[in-house]
Amino acid sequence: MLVNKKILICVTGGIAVYKSVALVSKLAQAGADVKVVMTKSAMEFVTPLTFQAMSRNDVFFDTFDEKDSSVIAHIDLADWADLVVVAPATANVIGKVANGISDDMVSTVLLATTAEVWFAPAMNVNMYGNKAVIRNISRLAEDGYRFIEPSEGFLACGYVGKGRLEEPEKVVELISERFEPKNLPLTGKKVVITAGPTRERIDPVRYVSNFSSGKMGYAMAEAAVTLGADTTLISGPVSLPKPAGVTVIDVESAAEMFNAVCENYEDASIVIKSAAVADYRPAEIHPQKIKKGEDLAVIELERTTDILKTLGERKEKQLLVGFAAETENVLKNGMTKLIGKNLDFIVVNDVTDPDGGFGSETNVVTLLSKSGTNTPYPAMSKKELAHLLLENIIKEEGFGVIHDR
Ligand code: CTP
Repeated sequence: MLVNKKILICVTGGIAVYKSVALVSKLAQAGADVKVVMTKSAMEFVTPLTFQAMSRNDVFFDTFDEKDSSVIAHIDLADWADLVVVAPATANVIGKVANGISDDMVSTVLLATTAEVWFAPAMNVNMYGNKAVIRNISRLAEDGYRFIEPSEGFLACGYVGKGRLEEPEKVVELISERFEPKNLPLTGKKVVITAGPTRERIDPVRYVSNFSSGKMGYAMAEAAVTLGADTTLISGPVSLPKPAGVTVIDVESAAEMFNAVCENYEDASIVIKSAAVADYRPAEIHPQKIKKGEDLAVIELERTTDILKTLGERKEKQLLVGFAAETENVLKNGMTKLIGKNLDFIVVNDVTDPDGGFGSETNVVTLLSKSGTNTPYPAMSKKELAHLLLENIIKEEGFGVIHDR
């Protein structure tokens, strides 16, 4: 539920800050992308370094400390978040936001964001019952802010009563519920994606391969998870972190990839073959390291199985999406592959384009469909492109309407 969700935790100054550390840790473990903003008072209890380590992101506390000169930090954070949670929320921050005051990083971000904001108050029982605090909470609730009520029990100040920050596990549960996929188009559907190169061994120390980085396939897997799919990623050797919420099957050769894909084909709704599979492999794998000699060395190659073509021949209900890496006659060659491999879609990629191709963070492609549609995409990040491609594919196939990312 929380995979790739952007959650901004605003930490204000109360003894319950230690629980926010656990909250950030649990959210990050659940696959959320978590960023933290702190007030100066919160830093009296726990240092930003603790939150940085838990979230694996920079921690923000000074409105004027711009870490990235290309953006304005408080606006960037406010725009970035899918959900903002103020935990612990002191009487002070509640009072400030209720009255439109923004005099530090936390209150400025809270005023600038258009994302949903939740407050998880924690304070002394008498402060929580104070008329001004009650007034401020009511006003914020009327304005559409949501509150996670504090629980009752022993308070750090010695009182017993209402004022304890809700337990981190419970807060995570509430946040997960908030992101429950209501009508995600790929909920209940299995999506199988291949990524990266394959390696075809020559001898124990050498292999034949290609320059594929796997970035496009990994981005497709992340996009599939976000759209609610049960996602399996069959990956050749790459140096990318495993995407959260995805079942990753590591393979090396085209033959291993073929087996893994076949094992996952029957119950798949969509198969996306973004891997750059070797078309040839050494006819013989030498058991020992080949020693150099004086003569020209010749390695005899034999064809690998065309995985996608085989899937096309065995296709029942599955939707097949291929990728075509081309250097000339890009659209024509792409269409020939789409027809020849019995595909539903093909993403055609001119690998000579400086904005696209192997290893690059960006890509520029055209999506061709068997029904004849032709959708060009301008240069954009592979992550962004993956979302657009998948949304377009499922829209054309009538898998459902995209409601919410
Ligand atoms: N593909 C595959 N198995 C292979 C070769 C390719 O499944 N042995 C898939 C790729 O994953 C991709 C599509 O086929 O989705 C097209 O791959 P590409 O390398 O562009 O084309 P090829 O069919 O190999 O043709 P050529 O190399 O001659 O351009």
